[in-house]
Amino acid sequence: MRILAIETSCDETAIAMLGASGNLKQPRFKILKNLVASQIKIHAPFGGVVPNLAKREHLRNLPILLKKLKTQNSKLKTDLIAVTVGPGLEPCLWTGVNFAKDLYSKLKTHNSKLKLVGVSHSEGHLYSFLLARKFKPDLFPAIALIVSGGHTILLLVKDLAHYKKLGETRDDAVGECFDKVARLLRLPYPGGPEIERIAKQGNPNAVNFTRPMLNQKNYDLSFSGLKTAVLYYLRDNSPSTFTFKGGRQTTECHGKVRDKNVKIKDIAASFQAAAFDLLISKTLRAAKEFKAKSILLSGGVASNFSLKKDLKLRIKNEKLRVNLFVPNKKFCTDNAVMIAAAAYVNYLQNKNHRLIAAGNMNLK
Ligand code: KG4
Ligand code: ZN
Repeated sequence: MRILAIETSCDETAIAMLGASGNLKQPRFKILKNLVASQIKIHAPFGGVVPNLAKREHLRNLPILLKKLKTQNSKLKTDLIAVTVGPGLEPCLWTGVNFAKDLYSKLKTHNSKLKLVGVSHSEGHLYSFLLARKFKPDLFPAIALIVSGGHTILLLVKDLAHYKKLGETRDDAVGECFDKVARLLRLPYPGGPEIERIAKQGNPNAVNFTRPMLNQKNYDLSFSGLKTAVLYYLRDNSPSTFTFKGGRQTTECHGKVRDKNVKIKDIAASFQAAAFDLLISKTLRAAKEFKAKSILLSGGVASNFSLKKDLKLRIKNEKLRVNLFVPNKKFCTDNAVMIAAAAYVNYLQNKNHRLIAAGNMNLK
C-alpha cells in the first residue's frame, strides 16, 4: 500500500510517500518521497521555536510540499493518509490535522477506500528503526531509547506491536538540555549540532559534571540539574571576560577563574559526555535486566555521532551481545517517513489515534 504522511508537530514541515508491505513479523518499506521544509532560519534569531511563527510557516509550506509531491506523482495515488496528532505544539499540530482532513475529503471522491489516521510522533521516532536497515524478526526483546527535543523515553519493546515504558525524563528532555546549554555557551540555535561540533575538539574529562539519578535503580532520567551545573560552572570558573545569561538576568562573570585552561569546547565536550553517560548507563542496565537482543536509538539527539560511538564502545566493554539500530541522520530528526512507518505498524494492528491535536499525548 502507499501511505502519504504529514508531520507538523514542531519546526519542520514534512510530507512523505512510503510504499509499505508485509506483516508485523516482516514489514517492508520503500521510501518514495521524503520532503522536509526546515524552519531553522526563521527561529534562529529567537534562540528557540516560536509556536505562532512555526504555525504560520507550516500553513505556508504544506501546500508547497504537496505540490512538489504531485509533480512526481501527478494523480497522488495513496491508500492511507497519516498525520501526526501529538505530542507537539498544539497550534502546529492542528495545521497538519486540518490540512490532512481537507486533502482526505478531496481525494476521497476519487478513491472511496481511502483512509485517514492520526499518528503519535513518539511512535514515529520509535518505529524509525525500521528505516535503519533490513528488519529481522529476531531482534526482540529490544530496548528503545527515544532522545529528542521534547522527549527522553526508555521503552521495553517485546515485538512490533507491544511496548512498555520503563522510564522517562522527570524534567528537561535531553535535546532541550543541549539547546539550553548551547545558549549558555553562546552557540546558535539549534544547539545540539553546535555542541557536537565544538565538543569534537574539546576534552570530555576537563570538567566532571554531575550525573543526576545515575545510581538510582529506576529507569527515569533527569537533565535540569546537569544544565544548572553548567550554569554554575560558568559563573564560578568561566574565562574572565565571558558573559552569559543565567535565568532571566544577564550575569557578568568576574568569577574565580580557577580553571584558566578550560575552554568553551572543553565545557561542551564534558557536558556532552555527562549527558551521554546518563543515557547509556540506564539503557545498558535495562538491556541487561530484560536480556535485550537489540537497542533501538531514535530522535534528533540520535543523529549525534559521539552518542553512537560511546554507546557502541560501552556495549563492547560490557560484553553485551546486542544489535544497535540507529536510523540514518535524516530519519533521526523530524520527518514524515517515520510517521508513515508508524502508521503502517498501527494499520497492521487496527490501532488508531483520534484525529485531534493532543499536545501532551503520551506513549502508553
Ligand atoms: O527529533 P527532533 O528533530 O525533534 C523533536 O521531536 O524534538 O529533535 C530535535 C532535538 C533538538 O533539541 C536538537 O538540538 C537535538 O535534537 N539535536 C541534537 C543533534 N541534532 C539535533 N542533539 C545533539 N547532537 C546533535 N547532533
Ligand atoms: Zn521529533
